[in-house]
Amino acid sequence: MAVSSAPGKVYLFGEHAVVYGEPAVPCAIERRATVTVERRDDDALRVQADDLSLDGFTVEYGGPRDGHPDIDVPQPLIRAAMGYVDGAIEQVRDVTGESDVGFDVTIESEIPLGAGLGSSAAVVVAAIDAATRELGLTLETEELADRAFQTEYAVQEGQASRADTFCSATGGAVRVEGDDCRSLEAPSLPFVIGFDGGAGETGELVAGVRSLREEYDFAAQTVETVGDLVREGEAALEAGDIEEVGRLMNFNHGLLSALGVSARSLETMVWAARDAGALGAKLTGAGGGGCIVALDPTPEAETALRFTPGCEDAFRAELAEEGVKRLE
Ligand code: PMV
Repeated sequence: MAVSSAPGKVYLFGEHAVVYGEPAVPCAIERRATVTVERRDDDALRVQADDLSLDGFTVEYGGPRDGHPDIDVPQPLIRAAMGYVDGAIEQVRDVTGESDVGFDVTIESEIPLGAGLGSSAAVVVAAIDAATRELGLTLETEELADRAFQTEYAVQEGQASRADTFCSATGGAVRVEGDDCRSLEAPSLPFVIGFDGGAGETGELVAGVRSLREEYDFAAQTVETVGDLVREGEAALEAGDIEEVGRLMNFNHGLLSALGVSARSLETMVWAARDAGALGAKLTGAGGGGCIVALDPTPEAETALRFTPGCEDAFRAELAEEGVKRLE
């Protein structure tokens, strides 16, 4: 048996603009997906994920080659999660050359699904790491991140940046620009996350920004401005100036709103956090619903979010210095 965990992430700066080659800075957070893998005697997959959603599921099937059985897995998000596990296991079969290997896979996750916190990347990173180690192979972090990216790229049909998977594999704050990913020096960041209980449609939101950008020069300039802001943000991080980081998060949120990817619930949570004294607050990820991230060293923003209508969950999450963790 092998057990690995990997963290989720927030975007400190730069989502959406990263799609057009601008830099972005995601940060790993101490909310993890833990995956336990045990080799089977046959080539089947059995996936158990009791807390991946409110309902949980257990499913046994032949794996990617046989397709999913027509079983009672009603929720689209759970179907999506199975797709990621399939993809991860295909990578493991490929890298180890053991094309007929089967596994029992158990997923425990503290990361809400599809809400901009990188839940799928964390599951994929932890699953590939645990399953390869179960077969006696320990991947270097770079290769793990790349295999996890290939999985997301295939499952999301080409719509994936390297941000989530690299960040989850390495931990810490990272800078992503195209295929170039590297770690950044960052001070300890007091993240507070508000979750509206929903999820945005990443594909539609990305398409919306794309057409705005094609239609209006000022929308294209807004995307470039996000890139400038990210470069300022990197300098603020390196200087350890978290007040400036907060101001730039506010600015980044305004630009994302201008690009049409905010939502009423996200605005309400962003303003609740700011009113409570947060240093900055913005949506994180694709937007449209899901999560906001605020910076607040005091308990005020988290408390305010807990009492904000439309905020289903609020929690603190420190920067995860460590990416993948090998637990067993
Ligand atoms: O919602 P998330 O965490 O998958 O983030 C999407 C980020 C985008 O920049 C909107 C798209 C992308 O693939 O980078």
